[in-house]
Amino acid sequence: MSQPVQTPATFPTRIFSGIQPSGGLTLGNYLGALKRFVEKQDEGIETIYCLVDMHAITVWQDPAKLRQQTREAAAGFIAAGIDPARSVLFNQSQVTAHVELGWIFNCVARMGWMSRMTQFKDKAGKNSENVSLGLYAYPALMAADILAYKATHVPVGEDQKQHLELCRDIAIKFNNDYGVNFFPVVEPVIEGAATRVMSLRDGTMKMSKSDPSDQSRINLTDDADTIAKKIRKAKTDADPLPDSVDGLKDRPEARNLVNIYAALAGQTPAEVIAEHQGAQFGTFKPALADLAVAKLSPITSEMTRLMQDPAEIDRILGAGADRAEAIARPIVDQVYDIIGMIRSRRG
Ligand code: AMP
Ligand code: TRP
Repeated sequence: MSQPVQTPATFPTRIFSGIQPSGGLTLGNYLGALKRFVEKQDEGIETIYCLVDMHAITVWQDPAKLRQQTREAAAGFIAAGIDPARSVLFNQSQVTAHVELGWIFNCVARMGWMSRMTQFKDKAGKNSENVSLGLYAYPALMAADILAYKATHVPVGEDQKQHLELCRDIAIKFNNDYGVNFFPVVEPVIEGAATRVMSLRDGTMKMSKSDPSDQSRINLTDDADTIAKKIRKAKTDADPLPDSVDGLKDRPEARNLVNIYAALAGQTPAEVIAEHQGAQFGTFKPALADLAVAKLSPITSEMTRLMQDPAEIDRILGAGADRAEAIARPIVDQVYDIIGMIRSRRG
């Protein structure tokens, strides 16, 4: 007999999120995700953050670079304010529960659901016969990342919304198929002024670590000069800033810079417009550059400092993985029992 599916309110609040170490962290990652990971941690909620290296290899990664990028992302998390004593911080491949549950979810998710994933369609493009099977299955592994911890809330940028809907569908189908109330139906947490930071070269494209143009993004490793230059060269239109947020509607580049300013300053876009209405980009861009440098430089320099001791970063990730494993292992063992796997090994 299937029982009604529990809503997240019946599970203790637990936050999980992940970032792929498939390149350096960008301003999009920082504003859309990382900055908000820190806020959740500081609110005192249980927070688990993961560098999803298994997701990264859905597209080929140079092994030495992958290791370097994983350490650098960990340094970025810590520099941005993630405290490894208060949050669980680790890399995915050190906790095998993720791939184990990922396989089970490959058997729960339906082909039709996966085929609707817009990120897969975008990434695969015309090349869909030649991308990895992992790239297609990726959202099922993402659901496993979250549900291996029975996490209830997942802070992400706007682009991950559809993947989280799939995670909800997987939880509901698993619960129904096995007649249990085992997995929570997660809530996406998509908040703030910069849930979708756009490319500095094209206001209709997402700022991404995989964009071939370095000018399109601000990296957390960029120095002050580079940040200022990239903002000065950012594509805009010729008009001054409007006197209301509505006036940004058909101006994607201008809207993007206002949103970035708002997110960095901790203001709403309306507040930014109230302060800067009528300003030309010749004035607004330098103000934005100063603000970005003031907010990002301390993070960049702390990252550089942390990167001088890679062994310490590895130690932190290992200790985080031990804590993650202690939560996920019993959950995935219960899943094995629910689905009818014999577990008879001693010790
Ligand atoms: P990824 O770099 O694809 O692993 O993304 C990690 C996190 O950063 C996810 O929560 C994304 O939604 C978020 N993110 C990535 N790019 C952006 C962007 N341009 N704007 C806002 N959030 C982003
Ligand atoms: N798919 C996410 C991205 O590319 C990264 C990710 C993997 C993730 N597993 C997750 C995000 C679990 C949140 C929760 O941005």
